[in-house]
Amino acid sequence: MTLMRKLQMGAAALALSTSVASAQGVEVLHWWTSGGEAAALNVLKQDLEGQGVSWTDMPVAGGGGSDAMTVLRARVTAGDPPTAVQMLGFAIQDWAAEGALANLDTLADEQGWEAVVPEALQRFARYDGHWVAAPVNVHSTNWVWANTALMEELGISQPTTWDEFVAAMQAAQDAGYTALAHGGQAWQDATVFESMVMGVGGPEFYQASMVDLDPEALGSDQMVEAFQRMETLRGFVDDNFSGRDWNLASAMVINGEALFQIMGDWAKGEFVNAGQTAGQEFQCFRVPGTEGTVTFNSDEFAMFNVSDPAAQEAQLAMASAVMSPEFQIAFNLVKGSVPARTDIPSDQFDACGQMGMAQLAAASAGGTLFGSMAHGHANPPSVQNAMYDVITAHFNGEYDAETAAAELVTAVEIAQ
Ligand code: BGC
Repeated sequence: MTLMRKLQMGAAALALSTSVASAQGVEVLHWWTSGGEAAALNVLKQDLEGQGVSWTDMPVAGGGGSDAMTVLRARVTAGDPPTAVQMLGFAIQDWAAEGALANLDTLADEQGWEAVVPEALQRFARYDGHWVAAPVNVHSTNWVWANTALMEELGISQPTTWDEFVAAMQAAQDAGYTALAHGGQAWQDATVFESMVMGVGGPEFYQASMVDLDPEALGSDQMVEAFQRMETLRGFVDDNFSGRDWNLASAMVINGEALFQIMGDWAKGEFVNAGQTAGQEFQCFRVPGTEGTVTFNSDEFAMFNVSDPAAQEAQLAMASAVMSPEFQIAFNLVKGSVPARTDIPSDQFDACGQMGMAQLAAASAGGTLFGSMAHGHANPPSVQNAMYDVITAHFNGEYDAETAAAELVTAVEIAQ
C-alpha cells in the first residue's frame, strides 16, 4: 500500500471515529432548574462532555417531577422518548412495568452496584430483579433550613418540639419577619405535610397512612391533627406565598427576610450556591417531632429503550459516570443530597451533609427510614397526586381539618 493510500485510510478512520463520537449524545429530561440544581447538573454535563458524550437539555420545572412526568408521557406517546430521564421511586417501577426502560444489568454487574447501593434504593432502581435506573443521590425531606443571624437576633435556639417550633415562628412574626418561607405549590405543600404526619403519629402512623394506605389511619384523629398543624403553619407564611417557587422561598431565608423553610435538602444547594456555609450563615435541623426518622427520595436516571447503538452507548456512559464514586461526591456536595453509594466517606461533606449521611445510615439500620410521599417513594403516582389535591385544597382553606382527613380517605380509595 502506498503511503498516500495509508494516509487516506487513516484520515477516513479518524473521520469515522469522530463522527461516531459526535453522534453519541444523551437527551436528558429533568426538573433541575434552580441555581443550585443547575450547578449540580453542570457537574454531570461536564463529566459526560469530557468523555465525548454530548448533552441535550430538556428541563421541565417542578419539584416532585409531576410536570416532567406529564411531558415524558407525551414524548413517549409520540414515539420519541428522551434517552435519559430523572425519575423518582414508583414512577420508575411504572415505566419498567410498561417495558419502556433499558436493561442496565451488564454494567451493574461489571461495576458491582448490588454491593454498594442500599436496599431501599435498589427497591426502586431494579424491576423484576433487573437494573433499570442508576441512582444519583439520596435526598431527605424532613428538614428545616434556618437563618442563623435571625435566630440570634430573636434569641432563638434550635427548636426540638412542635411547641418550641411554633414559639420560634411566633417570635419572628411578632418582630415583623416572615416566620416560614413557603411556596404554595401542591408538591411543596405535600413536602411539608409529610413531616406533619410523621411528627404527629411517628413511624408506625406514617407507614400505615402514607405507605400502606390504611383507610383507618388516613381518616384518623392523628391525620386531623396533621392537617391542624398545616393550618398553624399557614398562619406563619407571608401573603405572597401562592405559586412561589421553592428556591425563591429558600432565597427569603438566605436574605434574612424569613426565619425558616421546611424543605428537602435540595434547599441546601441554594444556600451553598449563594456562598453560604452550613452551621454558619444557615443551619439545618430535622422538623421537630420527626427526629430519628428520615423520609427519603432518590433521584435516579432511567434510560429509555432506544435502538440506535450510539445512543445506547451514550446511555451506558451516563449510567457509569453517575455511579462512579468521584461523581457521587462532586455532584452531591453541590446538590445538597448525600451519595447513593454506601462506600463513600463523609469527610468532604459540610455539617448538614455529614448529619444527613449519619442519620440516613442510622434510620436505615433502625427501621425508621421511609419513602417520601411527596417525592414518589411512598405510593404510586396516582395516589400521590390524589393526596396532593386534598393537601393543597385544605392548605388553601377549601376544607377544615376534619373534612380534609375524610377527603383523603375517599381520594386515596378512588385513586387505587
Ligand atoms: C428532586 C430533587 C429536586 C427537587 C426540587 C425533588 O423531587 O428529588 O432533586 O431538587 O425535587 O426540584
